[in-house]
Amino acid sequence: MNCRSYSVFCRRAAICSFAVCLFILAEVLPEVGGAAQSGNGGAGYIRTPVYTEEGVEACLSCHYGETMQAIAASPHGNVTNPATPYSTKGCESCHGPGSFHVSRAHGGKGLPQLLSFGHGPGRSSRQEQLGACLACHENERSGSPMIGFTHSVHDLSSINCSRCHVVHTQTDPNSDASRQAGICLACHRKQKDGHPLIGRKPVDFGAMTCSTCHDVHPPSK
Ligand code: HEC
Ligand code: HEC
Ligand code: HEC
Ligand code: HEC
Ligand code: HEC
Ligand code: HEC
Repeated sequence: MNCRSYSVFCRRAAICSFAVCLFILAEVLPEVGGAAQSGNGGAGYIRTPVYTEEGVEACLSCHYGETMQAIAASPHGNVTNPATPYSTKGCESCHGPGSFHVSRAHGGKGLPQLLSFGHGPGRSSRQEQLGACLACHENERSGSPMIGFTHSVHDLSSINCSRCHVVHTQTDPNSDASRQAGICLACHRKQKDGHPLIGRKPVDFGAMTCSTCHDVHPPSK
């Protein structure tokens, strides 16, 4: 998905309205320059990225593929709920403040990456990934469903939220009865041919989901 969306981006970049790019640059440069000036030039001086003013629109001007649009139709894109990402910082609610990223995308080198979810090289640390989601989902914040992931059976170094959840989609596969078991059984192979409760008889997981019986991360009080 990444490669495809980036190559689409590249093609788009070629025809990208130069005016839009200049506009974004104009937004970013004064702030970087201003930071450099106001710093006293000490070796320990660190510039801090800020949230973009344009929010989602700034991001979609480059990341405009279907996957990126899908999130608007998901619960996270629900603007009638004031606690959702789309009612707050948009894409940056999860990926972090994007002012430097936008200038990095224009060729700026050595600037920090945005939060990158998932597993493998180039991904952000597990703690950063969990922190981005749990800031809303494990703290008191009315409007966000509360969960109790920390210290649950799946709070293991090899497992983060995106091992089970997909957010760049209209419907998370866990809330789809026909798809949830597939996610669980990818790791719980033993349960595939015979769940201990039901004996050898295979369960119709299309009708009954695993989470009907297993509260994977029960809500914290
Ligand atoms: C000017 C085009 C452009 C804009 C605007 C833009 N991006 Fe990107 N983005 C890119 C390119 C190109 C890459 C991949 C190359 C790279 O690693 O820098 C990328 C990579 C990413 C990544 C992968 C991690 C990383 O930092 O490399 C994330 C996440 C991301 N963008 C999110 C966002 C968000 C959120 C916004 C809005 C604040 C945004 N992008 C705005 C062009 C853009
Ligand atoms: C609710 C949190 C959340 C929001 C809001 C969100 N993302 Fe993401 N983003 C993720 C996660 C998690 C992934 C990993 C793939 C997945 O789960 O779908 C991801 C993957 C990506 C990637 C793939 C880059 C990589 O790291 O390889 C890009 C680019 C990206 N998001 C950009 C955006 C843009 C642009 C928006 C706004 C339109 C946005 N995201 C909104 C959480 C979020
Ligand atoms: C800015 C706060 C915020 C952040 C950050 C956030 N969420 Fe949410 N999330 C919400 C709210 C609010 C809802 C409920 C939306 C509704 O139903 O109106 C929600 C709903 C959900 C749901 C249930 C809805 C569904 O899609 O089935 C899941 C799963 C979820 N979030 C996972 C995540 C993950 C994983 C991350 C990190 C990648 C994340 N969230 C980051 C606020 C947030
Ligand atoms: C082992 C798989 C797994 C992992 C890991 C996981 N989840 Fe879930 N999550 C589920 C399942 C299954 C559901 C229930 C879906 C349903 O029944 O609709 C769920 C539901 C949710 C909901 C909706 C709760 C509600 O009351 O509506 C949120 C929010 C959520 N998860 C966030 C997260 C976050 C944030 C992380 C990472 C810190 C995470 N999950 C890690 C499997 C997982
Ligand atoms: C990334 C792999 C992975 C995924 C995906 C996953 N699990 Fe797990 N699960 C584990 C590991 C590892 C453990 C802890 C070790 C063990 O008991 O097998 C565990 C433990 C459990 C336990 C407790 C077992 C016990 O002995 O107490 C249950 C129940 C469970 N998972 C259900 C689920 C359900 C339901 C889903 C899908 C929503 C799911 N798991 C998805 C890896 C996974
Ligand atoms: C009808 C309710 C029900 C459904 C549906 C269900 N489970 Fe279970 N599961 C149980 C019960 C009850 C146990 C036994 C708990 C025990 O032995 O302590 C169990 C045990 C487990 C264990 C621990 C087994 C072990 O070897 O110790 C895992 C892992 C597990 N289930 C995963 C799943 C997965 C994955 C799914 C979906 C594909 C699923 N379950 C569907 C009720 C259910």
